[in-house]
Amino acid sequence: MTKEKLTELINDMSLEEKICQLLQVAGNFYDKESLVTGGLDYFKVTDREKELAGSILSISGAEKLKKLQDELMEKQPHHIPQVFMLDIINGYETIYTVPLGQGASFNPELSEKLARMAAKEGAAAGIHVTFSPMADLCRDSRWGRVMESTGEDSYLNGLMAAAMVKGYQGDDIKKKGNLAACVKHFAGYGGAEGGRDYDNVELSERTLRNEYLTAYKEAIDAGVKLVMTSFNTLNQVPSTGNKWLMRDILRDEMGFDGVLISDYGALKEMIAHNIAKDEEQAAELAINAGVDMDMMSLCYVHGLKALVESGKVSEKLIDEAVERILVLKNELGLFENPYKDASVEDEERLLLCEEHRNLVREAAVESFILLENEDNILPFNKDDSQTIAFMGPYADEKRVYGSWVFPKSEEGIVSVKDGVERFKTNNKTVFCKGSQLLSYNRTFKDGTEVKYNPSLKEKLLNEAVEIAKKTDKVVLCLGEHPHFTGEAASRVSLSIPDEQMDLLRAVSKVNKNIVTLVFAGRPIELLEVKNLSKAVMFVWFPGTETGNAITDVLWGETDPKGRVPMSFPYTAAQMPCYYNRFVTGRPNDGTLNQHFVNGYIDQIDKMLYPFGYGKSYTEFEYGTVKLSGGVNGDGKQLSKEKTVIASTTVKNTGTVVGTETVQLYVSDLYGSVVRPRIQLKGFEKITLNPGETKTVSFEVSEEMFRFYNINMEYVSEPGDCRVYIGSDSDTNNYAEFEIV
Ligand code: GLC
Repeated sequence: MTKEKLTELINDMSLEEKICQLLQVAGNFYDKESLVTGGLDYFKVTDREKELAGSILSISGAEKLKKLQDELMEKQPHHIPQVFMLDIINGYETIYTVPLGQGASFNPELSEKLARMAAKEGAAAGIHVTFSPMADLCRDSRWGRVMESTGEDSYLNGLMAAAMVKGYQGDDIKKKGNLAACVKHFAGYGGAEGGRDYDNVELSERTLRNEYLTAYKEAIDAGVKLVMTSFNTLNQVPSTGNKWLMRDILRDEMGFDGVLISDYGALKEMIAHNIAKDEEQAAELAINAGVDMDMMSLCYVHGLKALVESGKVSEKLIDEAVERILVLKNELGLFENPYKDASVEDEERLLLCEEHRNLVREAAVESFILLENEDNILPFNKDDSQTIAFMGPYADEKRVYGSWVFPKSEEGIVSVKDGVERFKTNNKTVFCKGSQLLSYNRTFKDGTEVKYNPSLKEKLLNEAVEIAKKTDKVVLCLGEHPHFTGEAASRVSLSIPDEQMDLLRAVSKVNKNIVTLVFAGRPIELLEVKNLSKAVMFVWFPGTETGNAITDVLWGETDPKGRVPMSFPYTAAQMPCYYNRFVTGRPNDGTLNQHFVNGYIDQIDKMLYPFGYGKSYTEFEYGTVKLSGGVNGDGKQLSKEKTVIASTTVKNTGTVVGTETVQLYVSDLYGSVVRPRIQLKGFEKITLNPGETKTVSFEVSEEMFRFYNINMEYVSEPGDCRVYIGSDSDTNNYAEFEIV
């Protein structure tokens, strides 16, 4: 449809029709089998409003959506097509590692491929928009939604968000297999006080701009079609009614002219925030902030008409919102092809197909972080006749896909047990449960029930210990319940439930050859796991190909390639924690017996596993950092016009092939405001054969040193600086030069 036709259409729509076009209704109100991603009983929507609503979320299936589209278009006075939206954040039916596991892969190109694959499956199922990527910066893993982020570094998050947008959207969202993407949650949601979901976020404008906004900006520069508001207040103003944040920053400064959708019920929540006295005032705040779509609240439907009639709100604002929504539908080609890519045949062909399975298997391996490997107990030798016992609640579990995916069936999921039983090895493998996941009953938001049976504990433990006595090695598959991470899953403790730790403790008394695999969606407290295990591998929630990916790595078909995307503390009490903190005027040296220094007197102020950390099955040796280029060719001076090349050699000093993520960090030695100790500005994954050496070079530009300075100017500042190249954020391998 041409722009002129769109304008004609809007001019021909009644005010009621226009206001309802801004309403987004959950699929559950059209089909009881659809997903539930928020409350429903407060939403007293009428049949007329449902028919006129502009968009629907959380319902999928080609046949179902084609039928629903026909029904609703028939009832729309201008036969305007619906746009169907869904949270496809780590796969539709072929499921891959959670976004934080993708962060661990340090592989944006892979995330782009994964998003492409997910888009094809979602589009075949009739979806037009995905509520992904989540670009929230996360520094507090008590917050359950860190799982949906790609971690604590804004540079990595920005690369990942842009890659996912390109993967979902391709070069034209109208084309087959493409979805429109929605970056969320704007803005600063990851900074919730105390890690408590939905809580207030207090950020100076400088921190907001230097750290929290950058990844959203990368998604916008990558052409993301929608932005979603965040539930939190930012410095006491709810994002959904925050005109400065949405019009001045998002639209005017960042140049975003797409659809701004509220999060689920967020307009109405402004009443609970006690910033709006009623739905009408909430509607006024949101429309003035430029929010186009009201997801699952009726504030626009109940409030906008009166606001227009009273002159408080110009109908022009509503027309602008309607236009942005109709432009999105037009860019998706829905006026010409309301079904877009919905196809039962394509669903059958694509969902869980071998190509998609292979991709998600690769993604899982790329995400696994080998944290410990004492005595090189890993990889197992598939040719020897050793006996290996697999035990723990995740040893034979298909719910290995995090809390934001809703596969039609778990049938196709390869559990650890499935994978091991398929794997060709001379080793003898045995399985037992060993422990229950939790030590109490719990019913979760999606109806999942966990029933704890106290009388089972001793029986399971004794069986496991007897088996562990007779086996050469034990693989413990422990972790968080999938619903202990994700939305509304903030925790004060980051420990693995004692029910499971008791299994590890008991087994470690009779067998020291323990490999512990940790299934979780966030950094977990692992000190005791580390002390009782020879090897520890963090596997996140790997998705459909869990069992095959884990056997690939356990038996050395490939090496684990993940690196820590979010700091692993010794204890949750260290939260919030992140590698690029300010050093303060009294920096500590990571030991305890210091006085009058930053940090704690009862805990070394370091991470158990720092950002960027991860082991391989081999060892790597780094050379010193060498500089070249710059103003004089010797790498000693960097200017706007002349970049510096920083290089080092990396050698595989081990006996097997290995993959290393070589990381580039930069730091100002001083500035007009304090500067982070170091900041990630580049990385390269390399695979080296035993004995092989490679020179890795990075082009260091002046832009890498830009920040909002004392005058809130976004600039680099002249002065001494450093560039580091190493295997994680604790590296001290650097060279110094000067910005001129
Ligand atoms: C939820 C989440 C958001 C999600 C939306 C739709 O409350 O905050 O991330 O996209 O509702 O399911």
